[in-house]
Amino acid sequence: MDKLRMLGGTPLNGEVVIAGAKNAALPILCACLLTDQPVVLRNVPDLQDVRTMLKLLQEIGVTVNFPDPADPSHLVLSAAVIKSSEATYEMVKTMRASILVLGPLLSRMHNARVSLPGGCAIGARPVDQHIKGLKAMGASIHIKSGYIEAETNPTTDRLKGASILTDMITVTGTENLLMAATLASGTTILENAAREPEVGDLAELLVKMGAKISGIGSDRLVIEGIEKLHGAEHSVIPDRIEAGTFLCAVAAAGGEILVKHCRPETLDAVIAKLKEAGLQMEVGPDWIKASMQGRPKAVSFRTSEYPAFPTDMQAQLMAVNAVAGGSSTITETIFENRFMHVQELNRLGADIAIEGNTAIAQGVEKLSGAVVMATDLRASASLVIAGLAAQGETQVDRIYHLDRGYDRMEQKLTLLGAKIERIK
Ligand code: EPU
Repeated sequence: MDKLRMLGGTPLNGEVVIAGAKNAALPILCACLLTDQPVVLRNVPDLQDVRTMLKLLQEIGVTVNFPDPADPSHLVLSAAVIKSSEATYEMVKTMRASILVLGPLLSRMHNARVSLPGGCAIGARPVDQHIKGLKAMGASIHIKSGYIEAETNPTTDRLKGASILTDMITVTGTENLLMAATLASGTTILENAAREPEVGDLAELLVKMGAKISGIGSDRLVIEGIEKLHGAEHSVIPDRIEAGTFLCAVAAAGGEILVKHCRPETLDAVIAKLKEAGLQMEVGPDWIKASMQGRPKAVSFRTSEYPAFPTDMQAQLMAVNAVAGGSSTITETIFENRFMHVQELNRLGADIAIEGNTAIAQGVEKLSGAVVMATDLRASASLVIAGLAAQGETQVDRIYHLDRGYDRMEQKLTLLGAKIERIK
């Protein structure tokens, strides 16, 4: 298992180019299942979760081509032939986002069999709202032997438009129902829809494929179903969480960096908090220049759905608070168990206590390097940030979590002057 070893205490300086967004790329790859024509994608990040999704799509029958061998972010997918409507337990347990094939497969093939995801390190994460929405669209769904077995009404064959109000805001739930609704008969209204930019990016691709969607970017999506979608070309939006992670890294370790190829308007809540922490920022149309002199100031925050502060940035900003002047409270409202990094940050010398869904961090002057263990993707990023700010050597074990969602993070940090290496 790979590990990352770093020697902390060196400020970061230079430029970093942000990759395409993981959480936009995953549903977008699944959207190719909605048409028998090729879908051309650019700016797809080169990460483990993307490779897992491509493997699942290939099992379903999708052909995947990389037209430019020098550019792994440029893909052509064709779902001309679908040979199986199934996502096995093996795939879904590797990556929960595999659930995103359910909506498109059911809508296009009229049946789907997808393993029910189990719990996960950060929370129980049920998919009841995906199922409820598809049932409202006329699907008959049964859970059998751990699988969601879904089919459309055999007399009409298509899903039918429905008005769906989900009990809570769900990102992949909105995406699954949105994709399913594009090929349904009649109009679907998704109330309480997730407004995350990744949902918007998926909707933009679907519109290019011929889908009729209004309300993109709002919490009410209206989809007028049509009989067939066609091929399209699309470039995946830049990853706001990757960009935010590098901003937190410079806030904690100091220095001056230029974050290129990002969408600053998708980072408003993160930028506001980092400004409060003392990070100096100049913001351009697709770049952010950030510099940190001295120690950050502690900032309290709570996670919530977009456009509020993202849960996917909670662990990274907590690492900044760990070395900040003052104390802060961090409240996690999306996932019930997303504080696994706290004990590991404390092993590096942080002073963080947990009370229910709130962490109370008392900033310390200096962290000291140690061997720590990554427990999930964003927890890994938080430990890397803490390691870069710590004195001495830090080793982060179980780095496969980081590889799931960050495109060559240690190479990008090396370019910024960090002393970091991967140990095979
Ligand atoms: N929920 C339910 N029932 C459902 C769906 C969701 O109870 O049917 C609950 C969840 O348990 C959670 C809350 O609703 O408490 C929100 O979950 P959501 O469905 O929005 O999460 P997700 O779609 O499974 C996506 C991202 C996550 C990100 C969350 C929240 C993808 C592939 N994953 O997950 O990304 O944290 O939205 O923004 O888009 C990550 O990248 O590290 C990551 C975990």
